[in-house]
Amino acid sequence: MKKEAISNTFNEVLERRLSRRTALKGMLGTTSLVAGATGIGVLAACKPNKENIVSPPLEFQELPHGYDTTHHVAPGYSADVLIRWGDPLLAEAPDNFSGGAIDAESQKKQFGYNNDFIGFQPLPIGSNNSDHGLLCVNHEYTTSHLMFPNVKALDTQRESTIEEVDIEMAAHGHSVIEIKKQNGRWYLVDGSKYNRRLTANTEMEITGPAAGHHRLKTSEDPTGRKVLGTLANCAGGVTPWGTILIAEENFQLYFDGDQVKADEKAPGERRGYGLFNAGYYQYRNHDPDLTEEELANQQPELKGKRAFYRWADHYDRFNIEKEPREINRFGWMVEYDPYNPESIPKKRTALGRFAHEGATIVAEHGKQVVAYSGDDGKNQFIYKFVSKSKYDKHNRSANMELLAEGDLFAAKFHPTGVGEWLKVELQESGWASPAFTKLKDQAEALIEARLIARLLGATAMDRPEDIETNPLTGRTYVMLTNNSARSPETTDPANPRADNRWGQIVEILPPGVDGDRDHLAPHFQWEMFLLAGDPNHPNGGKRGRYHKDVSKDGWFSNPDNVAFDPDGRMWISTDGFPKNLTPEGLDAPVHDGIWACETTGENRALTRHFFGCPVGAEMCGPCFTPDGESFFVSVQHPGDTPGSDYSNPSTRWPDFEPNNPPRPSVVAITKKGGGKIG
Ligand code: FEO
Ligand code: CA
Ligand code: CA
Ligand code: CA
Repeated sequence: MKKEAISNTFNEVLERRLSRRTALKGMLGTTSLVAGATGIGVLAACKPNKENIVSPPLEFQELPHGYDTTHHVAPGYSADVLIRWGDPLLAEAPDNFSGGAIDAESQKKQFGYNNDFIGFQPLPIGSNNSDHGLLCVNHEYTTSHLMFPNVKALDTQRESTIEEVDIEMAAHGHSVIEIKKQNGRWYLVDGSKYNRRLTANTEMEITGPAAGHHRLKTSEDPTGRKVLGTLANCAGGVTPWGTILIAEENFQLYFDGDQVKADEKAPGERRGYGLFNAGYYQYRNHDPDLTEEELANQQPELKGKRAFYRWADHYDRFNIEKEPREINRFGWMVEYDPYNPESIPKKRTALGRFAHEGATIVAEHGKQVVAYSGDDGKNQFIYKFVSKSKYDKHNRSANMELLAEGDLFAAKFHPTGVGEWLKVELQESGWASPAFTKLKDQAEALIEARLIARLLGATAMDRPEDIETNPLTGRTYVMLTNNSARSPETTDPANPRADNRWGQIVEILPPGVDGDRDHLAPHFQWEMFLLAGDPNHPNGGKRGRYHKDVSKDGWFSNPDNVAFDPDGRMWISTDGFPKNLTPEGLDAPVHDGIWACETTGENRALTRHFFGCPVGAEMCGPCFTPDGESFFVSVQHPGDTPGSDYSNPSTRWPDFEPNNPPRPSVVAITKKGGGKIG
């Protein structure tokens, strides 16, 4: 089919878009176009379109909403724990997890904590094998009060011993695990040569425009090109050339020290990334032009508070007074080759520095490659990277540096339903921000991508999490998880609810038709796919919006990660369901889990409940094998509820051993008797 035109001008697209809206308005009737107090266009949820590529309908029987100490899957499916925190991975790794006893040397060889993203790469390399492969799993962070007997929940000002810090550092990062399926069940391949752990101390290379920049140089690394470790690896991505992307998200939590002293040593660092006299979380979204004093006045209770982790007490590189620029070496997308256990992971500065949730690659032979990535912060932005060089599906080695060089864009969502990609680069003039005037070159524009996106006028979103492209249609979906900082004055059609506790899913339509869309184009159309939350919320303005037939169990809250099965159906994982819904409208908490739906046809946005997590856990990492017959999910921080700790956890999932704390684990889901999931 002929493409609808990268050559179309922005105005042509807008015009066509508006006439489409007018036509729809006629179809739906004028009054139905505006819903609730927020004036949300209905174009979104529930609009059938017979011209779309339509997936086969989902047939699984829905799971009820619930909340208890274990996991649940829809009837007719098996959900087996595949690997748990502390399970041995590497040669000589001790299987010593009893009562949670763990030491740093063992942890370096064992499966890490808080598994998040999961990527599957088939074995042998280049095959489409769905019964044998490498499972590549992020370990985003550690939950100390569920790992160590002497730590109390939510005591962010505690002291940590160096032994605890070393265990935490070893439990961060990433695992590569060789797995095989036999008789319908997955197991770990013993002594695999591929098994690998990346930790907060693994040597990595910094590549791209910011590599070697003076703002990336430290006393330990005067080259600005070598860094130890990766942190806060939330979601990620797989590339068609067989590498894995792992995203550095909340890197600011690890750095501590006095900002004033750090500023004396290296003036002008850390704009907009949340460090202020503490590395304290709440400042992650501060206005970069505010002075130290203005910031302190905004949240005086945090002045003098310390970082979430105590690493700076034991390792100088996390102390911003001593090493004010180490923090600039985090917040990047990292790419590594899982097929080569000796490969050095590469931080890709061309993709910008922010709280990367993950990255999704769209690659077509002979064309430039696109990487979509969300910045998971309140009122932060959605980005698109376009590589300089082209993808060659016949030549793996030619693709290995595609992400080293290219252009970065931030998304602006116009109320008309049209969107623009704004190039993240310094401008000659016109920006009055004092923070901006300190920036000198493109490397700095990437280091301070948040600031540039804000100055460009990109649309501040409700915490952009995972972004993924439907492989059948080419439509791209953004999970927006929530935003308590959205005020009534700053709502817009893409972020339509103030104090948004529930999140929404926005659908991006690059120019073209389903199955043939141009992701390289500088503009797009967009729709609201669904508004999460209770569709029967007592306050109409806060209601969720889905397909009209969504069941009492089929709605959810806080979309976080997303995966598509090979038939183009969407599988959403959630984070924050219970705490974000009660007590506002719900009587009982509901677990996080998986909800699935079709994205086109008559069942568009008819979400159905498939999997539920144990109490306190968030759901991450949804990942299918190429045949769609296996589905891996991450159960992260089970038992992390108020008051729950190592001695008295709210669940001891999945072992239920009286002395073991809960263990974050990967679960492998298959259909009983075989066949595709769904
Ligand atoms: Fe780590 Fe954005 O969730
Ligand atoms: Ca996430
Ligand atoms: Ca995903
Ligand atoms: Ca999350």
